[in-house]
This record gives sequence, structure tokens and C-alpha cells, in this order.
Amino acid sequence: MSTTLKEYLGQNNTNINESLKSVIMSIAHGAIIVQNKVSRISLDDISGSTGEINVQGEEVQKLDDKANNIFIDEFRENGKIAIIGSEETENGVILNKESGEYLVNMDPLDGSSNIDVAVSVGSIFGIWPRQDDSCLNDNSLLLEGRKQDAAVYIVYGSSTLMVVATESGVQSYTLDLEKKEFIITDANLKIPNKSKYFSVNYGNWDNFSIKTQEIIKDLQGKYSLRYIGSLIADFHRNLLKGGVFIYPADNKSPNGKLRLMYEANPLAFIIEKAGGIGVTGKENILDISPGSLHQRTPLILGNKDIVKNMFE
Ligand code: AHG
Ligand code: MN
Ligand code: MN
Repeated sequence: MSTTLKEYLGQNNTNINESLKSVIMSIAHGAIIVQNKVSRISLDDISGSTGEINVQGEEVQKLDDKANNIFIDEFRENGKIAIIGSEETENGVILNKESGEYLVNMDPLDGSSNIDVAVSVGSIFGIWPRQDDSCLNDNSLLLEGRKQDAAVYIVYGSSTLMVVATESGVQSYTLDLEKKEFIITDANLKIPNKSKYFSVNYGNWDNFSIKTQEIIKDLQGKYSLRYIGSLIADFHRNLLKGGVFIYPADNKSPNGKLRLMYEANPLAFIIEKAGGIGVTGKENILDISPGSLHQRTPLILGNKDIVKNMFE
């Protein structure tokens, strides 16, 4: 008998309150709509870019925009979210100043460079409890990753998967396209003790520090290289099979490329709940005190025994 996301959240959770459950269900509902769009981009003319440049200085893909609007609409309808931070919007989007209980930072579509070539992409969410009822602005979104109540990601791949992490652990679900329901596939997801893969963009080799080059040379003799170019797909494979993802600071990107609030924090929360770790090379991602919504960070995610000694 297959258990749906809604049933599992209802039955087995120990510390997920009704409002947090409803936020997770809104993400699931939005993901089902986005999955359909991902599968039809060339049929519905939503491939390619909008021609706009976003706050990151990157070309906005039509699907970035569409996914962003789909999830914002879901969160607006949900009513429990006070404000959203998104990769695709310069400032936070206030949804419910009066009674919103949660803050969400999201990457609505991760892996944009892979959209048009039918390679796995995803959506990433960090969910924080609202800290302060008085003022509500962009600064409300800048909370340490460790303060998250939950983190969620979706992989739109050969199957569509949803991974949900809360204090009580990590679960994975698979989308049943006929029933339009996420069905639980792993109720206690843990990263394997033994690592199998490492993921890095060798195209940046000449920009890496000597230290980074030495670390990568040490990995290449021990593990297989897998690099998809969609953070979420590389992360998901390494989480399930054991592995290390590295996007370090380098001469081209002195603060790294990936964003703290809606890529690094949610994934560092998830991997820590699954027995792994997320660091910058100097500190744990979840302990960083954020300065701005779109700030970048070096990001290393993987098995504790490998990552911990990497940059010491
Ligand atoms: P996004 O599509 O949300 O901007 O994220 C793209 C990111 C991430 O998914 C991936 O790991 C990284 O960009 C790949 O960067 P490179 O192409 O520089 O390797
Ligand atoms: Mn991304
Ligand atoms: Mn994105």
C-alpha cells in the first residue's frame, strides 16, 4: 500500500505542525505543475530565455520565470507564508504581513543551463519560522541556515522526486504522474558511509587555488567524477550514493558562485539531517550569518569524513 506525502505528514511526523505541513504540501502542488511545464517546454514555447537579465546578472530562462510565478502563486494561496526570497526576484515578496508564520527562500528552477537539453533540473526551498512579528522586510529573510524548520528540493529527472528534511529526519517521495501524488520511497534517507563520486567543474581548473587543486587531485585518484551542472541533480546523486560536491571560491568567483540563502542553506540542512555536512571550506554553511539575500558562498557538500578534513 503506497503512502502519499499528505498521509505520511499526517501519520508519522513528530514535530511538523499543521502550518508547516501546509507549506510543504503547497511546494508539492507547485512542483506537479512545474514538472508538467518542464516536460513540455518545446511544445509550449517556454524554452530559451526571456531576454531579461536577473539580479544575478544571468539571462532569465522562460522556465525560471514560470516556475517562480507558479510557486509564488502557491505560497500566496497558502496564506501561511509572510515573505518569500527568490533567486528570480531582487527583493523579498511580502505575502502575508499580518498572520504569515513562515519565511521561504527559494531557487524556483535550479540548473537553468540544462533546461533546453532535457537534463535534470530542480527546485530548492528553505523554510524558516518567522522570528519577529514587527517589521517585515528583506532583512527578515536573512536567517542562519541552522534556524530552518524544514528544507525541500525537487528533482525533475527520469522520475520526479521530492526530498523533505525536518528535525526528525529526511524522507524522499516519487511523483506518481497518473495519481498526481507524491508517494514515499524512503522514510529515513541517510548518506551512505562510503563515498562513490566527486563533482567539480574542471573547466574552472586554472582559476582554482593551489590548495583547491591539490584537494581535487587527491579526490580524482579515489572516486569517480560525475558533474551534471545542475546542483540539485549532482547533490541528489551524491546524497543517495555517497559523494562530494565542490564549488569552491576561485579567482573568477572569489565568493564562489552558488547562493547561500536558497541553494547552500537548504542543501546543507538536508545533508546534515542525512548524516553528511555542508561547509564553505572554513566554516559550516548553517552557521553563516547572512548579509544579503543573493550573497554567494563557496560550497562543499558530502560525506563528513571526507569533507571535514578537506580544507583544514
Ligand atoms: P541556477 O540555474 O539556479 O542559476 O543554478 C545553476 C548553478 C547550479 O545548478 C550548478 O551547480 C551551477 O550553476 C553550475 O555552474 P557552472 O556551469 O559554472 O559549473
Ligand atoms: Mn540554482
Ligand atoms: Mn535558479
